[in-house]
Amino acid sequence: MTGQVHIERERDVAVLVIDNPPVNAGSTDVRRALMAAIATVTADADVKGAVLIGAGRSFIAGSDIREFDLPLAPPEMPQVIAAIEAAAIPFVAALHGAALGGGYELALGCDWRLAAPGTVVGLPETTLGIIPGAGGTQKLPRLVGRPRAIDLIATGARVGADEALGLGMIDAIATGDLRQDAVALAARVAGQKRRVIDMAVPDAPGLDEAIARASRRARPHVIHAIDCVRMAGSVAAADGLAQERALFQTLRIAPEARALRHIFFAERDAARGHPDRAARPLPVDRFGVIGSGTMGAGIATAILLAGKPVVLIDSDAAALDRGLAAITAALEEALRRGKIDAAKAQAARANLTTSLDLAALSACDLVIEAVFEDLDIKRDLVARLDAILRPDAILATNTSYLDIDAMAAATSHPDRVIGMHFFSPAHIMKLLEIVRAGQSSDLAMATGFGVARMLGKQPVEAGNSFGFIGNRIYAAYRAACEFMLEDGALPQDIDAALQEFGFAMGPFAVADLSGLDIAWRMRRARAHLRDPADRYVDIPDRLCEAGRFGRKTGAGYYRYEDGKPRPDPEVEAMILAASRDRGIARAPLAKGDIPWRAMAAIVNEAAHVLSEGVAIRPGDIDVVLVNGYGFPRWTGGPVHWARQQDVAALTMACARAARMTGPGHVPADLKVLGITGDHRS
Ligand code: 3HC
Ligand code: NAI
Repeated sequence: MTGQVHIERERDVAVLVIDNPPVNAGSTDVRRALMAAIATVTADADVKGAVLIGAGRSFIAGSDIREFDLPLAPPEMPQVIAAIEAAAIPFVAALHGAALGGGYELALGCDWRLAAPGTVVGLPETTLGIIPGAGGTQKLPRLVGRPRAIDLIATGARVGADEALGLGMIDAIATGDLRQDAVALAARVAGQKRRVIDMAVPDAPGLDEAIARASRRARPHVIHAIDCVRMAGSVAAADGLAQERALFQTLRIAPEARALRHIFFAERDAARGHPDRAARPLPVDRFGVIGSGTMGAGIATAILLAGKPVVLIDSDAAALDRGLAAITAALEEALRRGKIDAAKAQAARANLTTSLDLAALSACDLVIEAVFEDLDIKRDLVARLDAILRPDAILATNTSYLDIDAMAAATSHPDRVIGMHFFSPAHIMKLLEIVRAGQSSDLAMATGFGVARMLGKQPVEAGNSFGFIGNRIYAAYRAACEFMLEDGALPQDIDAALQEFGFAMGPFAVADLSGLDIAWRMRRARAHLRDPADRYVDIPDRLCEAGRFGRKTGAGYYRYEDGKPRPDPEVEAMILAASRDRGIARAPLAKGDIPWRAMAAIVNEAAHVLSEGVAIRPGDIDVVLVNGYGFPRWTGGPVHWARQQDVAALTMACARAARMTGPGHVPADLKVLGITGDHRS
């Protein structure tokens, strides 16, 4: 045993077992132990071949990302790989679980790659703001050609064993025991070397198309990755490797990679929920969904895609038929896109039961309601379910804004009521807020998190506050954008500036897409709660009064021609009139001001959300905004972004936002978000 690598012997084959739980990340200690083990086995004349294999659930999940903020200690991964390539004996990489990043690059340094069924291989470095740094950009093209290597590296694709075999990323899939098959292979090829780096880069068609695909809206590090792949085979191998490594080292400590690492770990922290919760999730095998509209159909699809049975209920037969059609279409789409195979699609269809009768839910372990956003309707439903659901069944509501405590008060089992706030389309969007109401039990919350994992969602715990984490912060953001409309900007100015900041879409394009009528209805229902002193922009009301409900009516903040948004002079006239009616002298906003005003609103509300305990960690807010609201991932989310800013500039922006908002503004203490100026990188 050499630290985290054990050497075991199987006749004249040495088996190097990498053992660094939970995922065998390639830490400094692992690299040191590997280097020592390689030296030991290559010095032993009786050893004719070697196998590299991982203990536990993975081969190697990649370099240890936690070490990336520090100077890397020797030996670095390229040195370990060079030692394998320099050895006279063949090395077989025996892969299982994840062989990603530096882990797959280690495998690319070996002479043969054998994988257990179910292994996932790939180079996901670009998703972390870096490029493969241990030969990946130079070796993968030698196996799969440059165009395919560009596709794989630019998207950070994780490739299953069957596809990897088809592409040439691995040599074989083990048919028996992985270790025994690998040992047999190493013994069979004793005396042979087969270095990937010595192979020629094959000619493959479609290079220009692959470059164009990968470059579209690409971040700078992705362009570097593409350039490295293009270089493979056209410069001496050693030069290609050296240039790749130099770029990797620069990118690794750059702000964007730091931000992406932050969000990587924030996502994993968020998925744990409250750190003090000891309860273990209940097993959930039978699901019920009530309401077969947009959300209910999407949630049922997500459950079916995860291979679980669902009973879908609606009180309206026509709505149930529409829900069924939407689910069928979504499953067909998943099949067409290769997300599921024909057998899984067939099983998913067979797993769906529909009914107009709530009694069909009596055997369910967890029921999610997605009926109209109306408290009376939901309370009535919750009360009726008391006599139907098993006493230990969990009841989740997908409400966007309603008070879950008020709903839970309608049942004699309020402890089993939680919120499970999905995002539309629910079978695609990863974010899932798990909402803790006043009496939600730890068991119910833990089960909500367990179900989120089962569905492949990104769970985040939220408190029961109006709009939870995401919609509440988004509402503050949208309000700030509406103030800018009234103060002097047009929807297209604001959308363009925020898209340039990095948002997937501007707020007004988003509003048009989701429809303006729902928020209009809600504003009217809550009008009596509004403080007349608060600044209220009535431009969205004016649009709705004119029948402009967004994309679905062909007009909203924009006019839609052939599905494409166009700025509309009619909207401009409405906005100018609204400013005039409020006595506001419009003044054009500087382009740079728009993101600052929007971000000040987001950061201020984020600080409230955290100090009120609606979010339990600052990172959870980043996870919500990045996964549910198109906030640019490469900034690390709004809290991480704010921590990188000059504190004085941020404080000034918040003070200005306070002036723009007027009496409705409640300034928050930004220190709760850790905004001290000490985090800047
Ligand atoms: N470094 C450090 N820690 C890592 C890690 C890594 N590369 N990969 C996973 N972990 C940690 C996680 O933070 C988590 O820790 P926690 O329990 O304390 O929260 C634990 O391992 C388990 O991870 P997951 O919760 O993600 O477990 P899953 O089973 O859901 O997923 C996985 C496993 C598919 C391996 C997933 O963790 C993953 O995708 N990891 C990152 C893979 C990656 O991006 N590798 C490239 C790294 S960069 C690189 O290799 C550079 C090279 O080119 C030189
Ligand atoms: P929808 O109007 O598309 O569907 C609601 C369905 O519930 C309809 O088919 C209706 O017939 C059915 N229904 C109403 N009362 C019922 C009852 N008592 N019993 C059984 N069925 C009943 O609504 P949508 O958009 O799917 O929203 C549902 C819930 O999800 C709401 O609470 C909403 O706030 C929430 N939500 C909506 C999102 C969205 O983007 N649409 C996003 C996240 C949450």
